[in-house]
Amino acid sequence: MRLSAAVFCALVAVQAAVLLAAVSSAQAGELEVGYYSKKCRGVENIVKWHVSRALKANRRTGAALIRLLFHDCFVRAELPDSTHDVEKLIETFAKKNFTVEELVILTGAHSIGKTHCSSFRGRLSEPSSQITPAYRDLLNYKCPQGSNPVVDNNVRDEDYNVVARFMPGFTSRVRKIPDFLDNSFYHNTLAKIVTFHFDWTLLTHKEALGHVHEYADNGTLWDEDFADSLLKLSKLPMPAGSKGQIRKKCNVIKLY
Ligand code: HEM
Ligand SMILES: *[C@@H]1O[C@H](CO)[C@@H](O)[C@H](O)[C@H]1NC(C)=O
Ligand SMILES: *[C@@H]1O[C@H](CO)[C@@H](O)[C@H](O)[C@H]1NC(C)=O
Repeated sequence: MRLSAAVFCALVAVQAAVLLAAVSSAQAGELEVGYYSKKCRGVENIVKWHVSRALKANRRTGAALIRLLFHDCFVRAELPDSTHDVEKLIETFAKKNFTVEELVILTGAHSIGKTHCSSFRGRLSEPSSQITPAYRDLLNYKCPQGSNPVVDNNVRDEDYNVVARFMPGFTSRVRKIPDFLDNSFYHNTLAKIVTFHFDWTLLTHKEALGHVHEYADNGTLWDEDFADSLLKLSKLPMPAGSKGQIRKKCNVIKLY
């Protein structure tokens, strides 16, 4: 249920972004939930219905939409880099008025989705103080030299046989149906079973670590706080004086 709520607001934001592109004089501040209440009554329910349908057809859509919202809304911060440390990302998020707690909350989205091996190559040789050796072995197996496949962000969603081979103690947690958005990211982080260097560094910062524990302990709290933080993300204004731009590749500036 939470997933559809989150994705629903992603779609509202996507709708808003499309509208903004079409009406270049529109101000970002005008766009809000309920914007279409007169012009197109019930549009939110229509969007919600389509998102539910898309998710039933392909659960991957959820992760793709949530990441799309992040990248569409969090513009001009350069994109956050998965090899950065927590201090650097706290700075990046602070520039957009997001607190350490909100950074920790939003990063919990890494309980779903996939990542290319190139996004965490450095992790493959990090010491066991930073990554659980069995998981490091699993990632090394999934990411052979000279190729760049994708792996699941959450080991829970990995192939059963691969988990059985490298982390037999973990097999009971492997899910047949992948991409459940929940607080498992915090359990994985505490166990150093996460793909990104940045995710691991949450443990090295006192306040961030406190929140990692907080959300590992209470999944309901995370569901609620994630919905709030994602909504806040969707409301970020465009940088002053910017008309925005539609990019084919979200991390490459479009040159005219
Ligand atoms: C805080 C700093 C963050 C960093 C450094 C980061 C980095 C990344 C990277 C490198 C990937 C994999 C891309 C690839 O290799 O294909 C990824 C995937 C993803 N990220 Fe983040 N991310 C951050 C925050 C967020 C936030 C705030 C959200 C949403 C609220 C988010 C949602 C996702 C999702 C859902 C995926 C999976 C996408 C898919 O499967 O299609 N991330 N992230
Ligand atoms: C910054 O974030 C806080 C807490 O989420 C919010 O109440 C406030 O309105 C935000 N300020 C700006 C300038 O966006
Ligand atoms: C977990 O968070 C929920 C939602 O905020 C709250 O109602 C509940 O009391 C919390 N549970 C515990 C055990 O703290």
